Amino acid sequence: NRVGVLISGRGSNMTALIRAAAEADFPAEIVCVISDQPEAQGLAVAASSGIPTFVAPRAGHPNKAAHEGEIQRILDEAGVEIICLAGFMRILSADFTNRWVGRLINIHPSLLPLFPGLTTHARVIQQGMRIHGCTVHFVTAEMDAGPIIAQAAVPVLPTDTEGELAVRVLNMEHKIYPLALSMVASGKARMENNRTVYAHGLE
Ligand code: GRF
Repeated sequence: NRVGVLISGRGSNMTALIRAAAEADFPAEIVCVISDQPEAQGLAVAASSGIPTFVAPRAGHPNKAAHEGEIQRILDEAGVEIICLAGFMRILSADFTNRWVGRLINIHPSLLPLFPGLTTHARVIQQGMRIHGCTVHFVTAEMDAGPIIAQAAVPVLPTDTEGELAVRVLNMEHKIYPLALSMVASGKARMENNRTVYAHGLE
């Protein structure tokens, strides 16, 4: 399975995917990294791992469709079969998500369906939540709402700052994203009728 990773920034989840995919028994390989931000830190990390990187800025295009067209061309050229969104800060159109349905996954820093959107850690603290976590899900046209593939929970400590909580969640993100990708790549998890179906043995 050939995987393309879309990023906009730091790329720590991308790095976790690259590391996992470097293992001999991992069922997928990362064949390209695309960023909409020319300055994304993750680009240098990917390049240093020998992975082809591409910059596709929104600014170079008259509209969203043209921008997504460029991304699609890069993915096609690289023979990508599965896309991992890893801190990609753009909402993809229904045209794009429908084309990739079941083969497009995202990581979100909350226990969805709680806390979709941005600034999850601050909102979790503000709400007085005692647990928090992260979710890998299939991407559908509705933001942060597709079928869940994997989740992990962490405690929220009374003394937590937003930053401390973010680090605790991020460490779990780096564990469950490679796990979820391997499940999708190996066919152990797949999307059917807007649900995640697990291969026998994982129910
Ligand atoms: C992560 O918290 C991820 O869950 C969210 O954006 C952040 C990206 O971080 N979608 P990184 O670029 O992977 O370090």
